[in-house]
Amino acid sequence: MEVFIQQLPKIELHLHIEGSLEPELMFELAKRNQIELPYKSTNEIRAAYQFDNLQSFLDIYYQGANVLLHEQDFYDLTWAYLLKCKIDNVVHTEIFFDPQTHTERDISFDIVVGGIHKALKRAEHELGITSNLIMCFLRHLSEDDAFSTLELALKHKDKIIAVGLDSSEQGHPPKKFERVFKQAQEHGFLAVAHAGEEGPAQNIIDAIEDLKVDRVDHGVRCIDSESLMVSLAESKMPLTICPLSNTKLKVFESMSQHNILQLLRRGLQVTINSDDPAYFGGYMTDNFLAVASALPFSKRELAQLSLNAIDASFIEKQHKIQLKQKVNDYLAQV
Ligand code: HPA
Ligand code: ZN
Repeated sequence: MEVFIQQLPKIELHLHIEGSLEPELMFELAKRNQIELPYKSTNEIRAAYQFDNLQSFLDIYYQGANVLLHEQDFYDLTWAYLLKCKIDNVVHTEIFFDPQTHTERDISFDIVVGGIHKALKRAEHELGITSNLIMCFLRHLSEDDAFSTLELALKHKDKIIAVGLDSSEQGHPPKKFERVFKQAQEHGFLAVAHAGEEGPAQNIIDAIEDLKVDRVDHGVRCIDSESLMVSLAESKMPLTICPLSNTKLKVFESMSQHNILQLLRRGLQVTINSDDPAYFGGYMTDNFLAVASALPFSKRELAQLSLNAIDASFIEKQHKIQLKQKVNDYLAQV
């Protein structure tokens, strides 16, 4: 099973680039940029990664991002993640970035996008990994702040395919961002949103109805509403599920309690993703391995997760056909 998972062509749809900042790179960038870290060693950093819930993670995650200052830093961060993709046989990735985490610290939007975009283009040429970029609004900040961020993004519309919504779900329901999502969609951006990670199933319904999202990030709390489960299966609305994130942030007590296989078998369009791999203990292969060792997945079901992700991705139809062929060929020869 390990070799099967390692070599399975994978597609990632839920990855926060700031969440791929490994402690080693954090230290290197802190030194390069003369920033004082509250840790003495990478071991000490890793030891601090014990979370009780989403907020306890977010506090540490935003602090880590403080070492990112220059275009080169964003480039190095993104390139390091893409090298992990190569090892894990990730053939296409759609990555999030949080512009407000940086513009709040007076780092320009152009620097952030510039560094990320250059690394993504290099990966396409040198590693054969294709990608799309998604800009997330931080939901703990105001609607006005999100509108200003959208304004900054317009000049980069050729590099950003969609808007998203992340950060603290509790107390910041989808409705708060209805108008900014509508405006983003009028400009031609696609839309995704984190919903039903810690928050209730109603947030999933609201993300679909009020924000008109093309897919739901996490969405695992859908299990609390039978009618929502039925409509998600019928509409084939994709859920980008992040198993190691969910256990680290105590959304599920253990991997054997995770509902991903149950949702898959109910016909929901579920996918596997790594979310913030530097903080949650693993990249794509690790996430597949974690679910496959805790739950009775068949090889066909694991491959179905890749096929679901291809359908749920924002790539062109012809490219989807090629990628599906790759997965089906792989499945046929094992
Ligand atoms: N949820 C919400 N916000 C986030 C996450 C997450 O899992 N990761 C990074 N920002
Ligand atoms: Zn996320």
